[in-house]
Amino acid sequence: MTSTDQQPFLSVRDLKVHFSTEDGIVKAVDGLSFDLLKGKTLGIVGESGSGKSVTNLAILGLHDRDRTAIEGEVVLDDKELLTASERELERLRGNKMSMIFQDALASLSPYHTIGKQISETYRKHTGASKSQARARAIEMLRRVGIPQPEVRVDDYPHQFSGGMRQRAMIAMALVCDPELLIADEPTTALDVTVQAQIMDLLKDLQQEFGTAIIFITHDLGVIADIADDVLVMYGGRCVERGTKKEVLRSPQHPYTLGLLSSMPSLDHPVDVPLNPIPGSPPSLLNPPTGCRFHPRCTFAEKVEGGLCSTEQPPLEVTNGRGSACHLTADQRAEYFSDLAGSAAN
Ligand SMILES: Nc1ncnc2c1ncn2[C@@H]1O[C@H](COP(=O)(O)OP(=O)(O)OP(=O)(O)O)[C@@H](O)[C@H]1O
Ligand code: SF4
Ligand SMILES: [Mg+2]
Repeated sequence: MTSTDQQPFLSVRDLKVHFSTEDGIVKAVDGLSFDLLKGKTLGIVGESGSGKSVTNLAILGLHDRDRTAIEGEVVLDDKELLTASERELERLRGNKMSMIFQDALASLSPYHTIGKQISETYRKHTGASKSQARARAIEMLRRVGIPQPEVRVDDYPHQFSGGMRQRAMIAMALVCDPELLIADEPTTALDVTVQAQIMDLLKDLQQEFGTAIIFITHDLGVIADIADDVLVMYGGRCVERGTKKEVLRSPQHPYTLGLLSSMPSLDHPVDVPLNPIPGSPPSLLNPPTGCRFHPRCTFAEKVEGGLCSTEQPPLEVTNGRGSACHLTADQRAEYFSDLAGSAAN
């Protein structure tokens, strides 16, 4: 995704994830491509229902294959994952790739101690002895900032606070040194101070372990904090991608611009309302024709020939930078110059 000639560690090509439902086919992800380099962080941003979680569950092989049509290519370090057997995926999950979610309670079992859950994951992938695995669990709990880890290792999840459970889930996700960590809104449910601590922790751990991270969020402030590259999703497709600086400083797509204008910033006057994007996200059963954003786009009328409602704009990418919009470069320069946000560091 960057302009270096380094081989991508994860490569996703034309990914489609379609669900069969009683109402018809839900095209949750509909032709998505991106790359991620070793040790880098890709931020995926988009409104609720844009396909962020579905994309990442597909990478991890966690969809029910009988009810889900998945097409395209997902290559992790030379291994094609979409055609991998359940057994191979089971081996890779937790070991080479792992995931943390918004809700730690849902991914931790209430019936086993935190220590047992971390050490069992470790033993499953390394064959370590029980005592080695317990020592490793204590070490990981210390590493993620749990006080008195040699005591707290025997606690059950309900004995931990929300922030501590999130840390424990990170410890469990990183216990086998995975090379890819998928973080799906891991801080959304936490208060701002704990959120900042968890973000710092992830950055530290990434530095230490060299983990590549996909960080999913609807919050551009979080993207500004953690991402190297950014992918903006709308209605199951990528509408814009580039480095954090490119996307946040000079957005090329009206949807990204809308996200930036609806983002609170420290210098935003409290008496001036933010501009949420009008309208609602598209139906994925019957997506709009042409550009999926056209029913909500204030620039659609600037494009000649009504193209926005009839022709899907292609995503043209050069050196990892691109957007899918019919506006010309000159039009964007003219219309967007005063509006772009200043969220990038
Ligand atoms: N198993 C499923 N069967 C049918 N539709 C599904 C299924 N899983 C997800 N969807 C639909 O796919 C679309 C994308 O869902 P997804 O969970 O990826 O959204 P998201 O971008 O992660 O949103 P959020 O920010 O709310 O987490 C949604 O319309 C959702 O209802
Ligand atoms: S293609 Fe048209 S509708 Fe879509 S974002 Fe660009 S201007 Fe708006
Ligand atoms: Mg989600």
